[in-house]
Amino acid sequence: MAMTMNDRKKLIVGNWKMNGSLAANQDLLQAIRAGIADLDAAACTVALAVPAPYLAQVQALVAGSALALAAQDLSPHEAGAYTGEVSAAMLKDFGVRYALVGHSERRQYHGETDALVAKKVQRALAAGLTPIVCLGETLPEREAGQTEAVVRRQLAAVIQLNGHCISEVVLAYEPVWAIGTGRTASARQAQAVHAVLRAQLGAASSHAGRIRLLYGGSMNAANAAPLLAQPDIDGGLVGGAALKAPDFLQIIAAACADGGPAMESGVNRQ
Ligand code: 13P
Repeated sequence: MAMTMNDRKKLIVGNWKMNGSLAANQDLLQAIRAGIADLDAAACTVALAVPAPYLAQVQALVAGSALALAAQDLSPHEAGAYTGEVSAAMLKDFGVRYALVGHSERRQYHGETDALVAKKVQRALAAGLTPIVCLGETLPEREAGQTEAVVRRQLAAVIQLNGHCISEVVLAYEPVWAIGTGRTASARQAQAVHAVLRAQLGAASSHAGRIRLLYGGSMNAANAAPLLAQPDIDGGLVGGAALKAPDFLQIIAAACADGGPAMESGVNRQ
């Protein structure tokens, strides 16, 4: 049977960025676990991208729940003399399923290029992790009418190196001007970019229809539902609101209420 757009299972990822402590993580996880006790795991997936030192703690705290573990970055190298780096295999050791790659804060503050991002995607896929590839334009780029060209360039680098494996990734469109600013892309603005990305994926893979495209950038309890209702928005990458259990739970509820049937059985390991 042909897969329709509605077959994509919604995915909500909380990106804690460089926040947290052993005590704060424990409190947050306790509240989130209590709030998702009745979550229909078939309707949506929820993952937490935590700082590397807390992977072991959070792995234990999410055990037996519907929450999946994500990393915020990974090394492009397999192993060896790369001081300070964390390898994909190490992440796998802690039960990590997803890894953010190319977040705009990595591109901006750590000089990550499109080519490096593509290499990290390749490394994640080789290790059996699902990369969540972050894309997005800055405010000057948007104002100069370059949004489409920028995200297409960023995605093209990933497609070029990863070929047909592109169907195994998740994309996150995060306009840089919307991150941490309280300024969200409108549902229409976000959908327009997602449609561009979907079309580009379609030209590269016959499985483009199953690739999940997340929106990120000041997603919150109030704006999540209209964003998630767009035909090409399959979930959210949530920063600040993921640190407040009530807000994060409302976003999860919006995604799960809107979630389509599960598509994972034998089709996609995400
Ligand atoms: P905010 O939700 O805080 O804007 O952060 C978005 C983000 O960068 C998630 O990766």
